[in-house]
Amino acid sequence: MAKILMCSPEFFDIQYEINPWMDINKKTEKSESKRQWQNLHDKFISLGHEVSVMDGVEGLPDIVYVDCGVLYKDTFIPSNFLYPERQPESEYFSEWFKSNGFKIRNIDKIYNFEGHGDTLFAGEKLFFGYGFRSSIEAQFKINQALYELGKVKVVPVELIDSRFYHLDTCFCPLNETEAFYFPGAFSEKARSILQDEINLIPVDEDEAGLFCCNAVVLGKDILMPAGARKIKKTLENKGYQVHEIEMGEFIKGGGACKCLSFIVD
Ligand code: ARG
Repeated sequence: MAKILMCSPEFFDIQYEINPWMDINKKTEKSESKRQWQNLHDKFISLGHEVSVMDGVEGLPDIVYVDCGVLYKDTFIPSNFLYPERQPESEYFSEWFKSNGFKIRNIDKIYNFEGHGDTLFAGEKLFFGYGFRSSIEAQFKINQALYELGKVKVVPVELIDSRFYHLDTCFCPLNETEAFYFPGAFSEKARSILQDEINLIPVDEDEAGLFCCNAVVLGKDILMPAGARKIKKTLENKGYQVHEIEMGEFIKGGGACKCLSFIVD
């Protein structure tokens, strides 16, 4: 069973615009975002997982999306957020990982790196999205740091559609060998790299727009933002159980199930 980190949503809000989904005139409905967050949390628990909840921080509305960093074995590499609005989040995340027994390894702040938003493991391959938030240069630094820790192969892929600014908005590994993805989010070269590295199930633009790729895969259970009927069916035919979770309030901020949870064990 997994151990999952979440951050409580009491300070979540749309206070600035740093991605095309965010519109400060479309505020979140506080009680509704709390309800949606709680449903996701309770779904993890009902599936037998453990959830550790970090406190939210006033003035950091996006900390609810736990884009904290990348974790490999017992080492945590914190994010270096691109936008100043999110930069203070890193110290809270580092604090949590430190006090939970992880080693912290920072990469130089000049390298923009958005952690779990842009890095997804499929077995020992780490897919690394760059182009909007994380930089290609950061990829070299992560590669170097992980190389010293184990046998990870970092696979950099370029993102080109600003709606899908983080890798986890358009790509979701199911296991070591298969992933579903929205092809339009990737450069041509990135598409061919992906094809060489993993078997791919495409999703269409409508369903990608419902954040279906922003899903959490826990064995045969997939927690996915509600409404993506086609990919749900495809995955069910492969033996997965897809649990649809309403995520409308968090999609207003540009994130959903996957951004709200970080698997730490
Ligand atoms: N508003 C946040 C931002 O733009 C959303 C982050 C979503 N996180 C993710 N892993 N996709 O940074």
